[in-house]
Amino acid sequence: MLMAALFCLAAALFLGQGPAQAAGSALSKADEQCLGCHSVKGLEKKLASGETLSLHVDGTAFVQSVHNMIGCDVCHRDVTLENHPPLKKKIASIRENSLALQKVCRSCHGAIVKQYEVSIHATLSQKGNASAPVCTDCHNAHTAKSKAAYDAPTGAPCSNCHYPVFEAYSGSVHGQATLACSSCHSAHDVSAAAAEDKLKNACSGCHPDALPAHKTWLPNSERHFEAVSCPACHAPKAKRKVDLRLYDAAAQKRIAEKEGVPQFESRARSADAKGAGLDAMALHSLLREFNRDEKDAKTTLRGRLEVSTGVEAHQLVRKTQAIRDCAKCHQKGADPFQSVTVSIVGPDGRPVRYGAQKEVLNSIISVDSVGGFYAIGGTRIVLLDWLLALAFLGGISVPVGHLTLNWLFRRYAKRISGKEDS
Ligand code: HEC
Ligand code: HEC
Ligand code: HEC
Ligand code: HEC
Ligand code: HEC
Ligand code: HEC
Ligand code: HEC
Ligand code: HEC
Ligand code: HEC
Repeated sequence: MLMAALFCLAAALFLGQGPAQAAGSALSKADEQCLGCHSVKGLEKKLASGETLSLHVDGTAFVQSVHNMIGCDVCHRDVTLENHPPLKKKIASIRENSLALQKVCRSCHGAIVKQYEVSIHATLSQKGNASAPVCTDCHNAHTAKSKAAYDAPTGAPCSNCHYPVFEAYSGSVHGQATLACSSCHSAHDVSAAAAEDKLKNACSGCHPDALPAHKTWLPNSERHFEAVSCPACHAPKAKRKVDLRLYDAAAQKRIAEKEGVPQFESRARSADAKGAGLDAMALHSLLREFNRDEKDAKTTLRGRLEVSTGVEAHQLVRKTQAIRDCAKCHQKGADPFQSVTVSIVGPDGRPVRYGAQKEVLNSIISVDSVGGFYAIGGTRIVLLDWLLALAFLGGISVPVGHLTLNWLFRRYAKRISGKEDS
């Protein structure tokens, strides 16, 4: 490395021709001197962690970057031509270095830094997760170009860390339309996917006519949109399941783990002594545990039919292939109801799940707690199965069939819940 340093010193001082000059830019003399050494390939430094930090800066790329008007010294205040290279700065690890250096972004991109700070990525990074991206994992400060942050063919920068999602996504209707990941997740204030309202709003932002279009064939589309995730119908190859979410009926939102005192998993495990997945009794006692802390019992469950993995949520296809067949769900033993999880929102916003036995959906013990989600495929849905069969066998035209069904179903729903629907 000493050799390399000496070589580039020579390059800078004697040849006087940095690559920056070759590219014909108006870099300051000082910047050219820096590049005289740092544009030499292979210049690197061993860190305390044992990692090797590259000190190479591609001068030509820097000249073409959005930051070419900014002197090296603006971002690297602690490094000057006077103190340097003799200055041997202690750098613990590549990650420590990135965390320290990304602080400079704030002085010019304050608004973006603010957005980033509330993201799941920043939250995890603050908690010490070294795989969560900081600014410079997605943008190279020396080579960043205008509006070229997302590369559709390779999915960079997101695919660097979420490759399985990218792979699934690239074949989807959106991937083929070269939509960026950020069109649904945003680039900087990325939320945990469990905050699905944000994602749903993104869908309707681009597809404002989706709800009216479904209403022409799907009874109570609003209710379906609530109880069935969009990918559950639009990713027809995916495996589907039911997630029962702990829900605060008074505040009308999902229950989140209390900061610092996670209880869900330990409570679920102690309720599920056999480790076979929660059965109806276990689920009942889990809910009782959660309600013990509250003045009035308001922790309940809300069912939602969704695809089994986050990867599958990206395999959306053309509408002609979407699931339209009512029997895929409204039939005794339909497969989405064969796999059940119970979940809470974890401390970082991501869901924490625990397996449950499929029988909880139609057990009489869970009738109360699984309110708001008719146990389709179980005993309680026999009436709906029957109505559907009647509608189709009877050859009632589809719209009329649905209206009738809807009406009958509501009456039935009232009867089992013992109260008016909202
Ligand atoms: C004479 C060659 C030379 C010049 C000129 C030079 N550097 Fe360096 N630079 C080095 C070497 C060698 C190292 C590695 C030092 C070490 O091992 O700690 C280094 C390290 C660095 C580091 C990593 C932090 C550190 O201290 O190890 C930064 C950042 C840096 N240089 C930026 C600059 C900037 C900005 C300029 C212009 C103001 C500049 N360099 C000019 C050779 C040079
Ligand atoms: C817009 C701010 C900015 C400018 C301008 C800038 N840098 Fe950097 N530089 C950074 C950041 C941020 C990193 C850390 C990248 C990372 O996280 O790996 C870095 C890393 C480096 C490194 C690697 C060592 C280290 O500490 O990571 C060197 C060497 C370096 N820069 C030299 C230069 C030189 C020479 C110039 C001028 C030609 C320059 N930089 C211009 C922000 C800048
Ligand atoms: C001294 C001010 C300054 C600092 C510090 C700075 N930038 Fe910039 N940045 C600019 C300017 C000026 C532009 C070009 C004008 C624009 O698009 O806002 C720019 C543009 C960008 C762009 C491209 C914008 C586009 O239009 O696509 C990215 C990405 C970017 N900066 C990232 C960073 C990152 C990451 C850091 C921290 C490592 C950083 N910047 C630090 C001033 C700065
Ligand atoms: C997870 C990857 C990722 C991280 C982390 C990230 N960005 Fe970005 N950034 C992107 C993408 C992708 C775009 C392209 C714009 C888009 O698709 O919405 C972008 C766009 C930008 C732009 C230009 C567009 C604009 O909105 O003005 C700037 C400037 C920028 N980022 C700065 C930053 C800074 C500063 C940080 C750190 C606080 C940061 N980015 C962190 C991925 C990221
Ligand atoms: C440097 C690696 C890295 C990059 C680049 C990156 N991410 Fe992440 N991302 C993570 C990590 C680590 C997590 C935490 C969850 C995990 O381990 O998968 C995460 C979490 C997420 C989550 C929440 C997942 C959940 O379970 O709810 C979303 C959404 C997400 N990233 C989207 C993006 C998007 C969009 C981009 C590109 C703009 C991107 N990420 C770029 C590392 C990265
Ligand atoms: C019960 C299954 C189901 C659910 C849930 C569902 N869809 Fe659909 N969707 C379909 C089917 C089937 C079609 C095709 C209808 C047709 O043949 O025109 C469709 C059509 C569409 C279309 C094309 C509309 C048009 O203009 O023709 C869009 C966009 C769409 N859905 C978005 C969504 C979004 C966004 C969600 C979630 C909020 C969602 N869908 C939930 C089954 C579903
Ligand atoms: C059309 C909107 C859309 C686009 C574009 C999109 N996603 Fe997603 N993403 C979703 C939805 C919907 C979910 C699932 C939410 C849920 O769990 O209900 C999701 C979930 C995720 C998760 C969490 C996965 C998990 O295991 O739970 C990650 C990570 C993620 N997306 C990353 C990406 C990346 C990377 C890209 C680009 C390659 C991308 N997304 C593009 C809509 C989108
Ligand atoms: C940034 C805008 C954007 C967002 C956000 C978005 N889409 Fe799309 N969507 C598109 C585009 C563009 C197409 C492709 C249209 C085409 O090629 O005909 C498309 C196509 C579709 C199709 C196929 C429609 C058909 O006619 O076959 C479905 C279904 C769909 N999107 C569902 C969703 C869902 C679900 C979400 C949210 C998770 C979502 N979209 C979010 C822009 C968006
Ligand atoms: C992907 C699975 C799926 C498909 C496909 C599906 N449904 Fe549903 N449906 C559900 C779920 C889940 C509910 C929510 C039950 C609840 O409210 O708790 C529901 C609710 C209903 C309800 C009661 C709505 C209300 O008013 O409360 C009716 C009626 C119904 N579906 C009819 C249909 C018909 C007719 C079709 C075919 C055109 C269909 N569904 C397609 C899953 C599906």
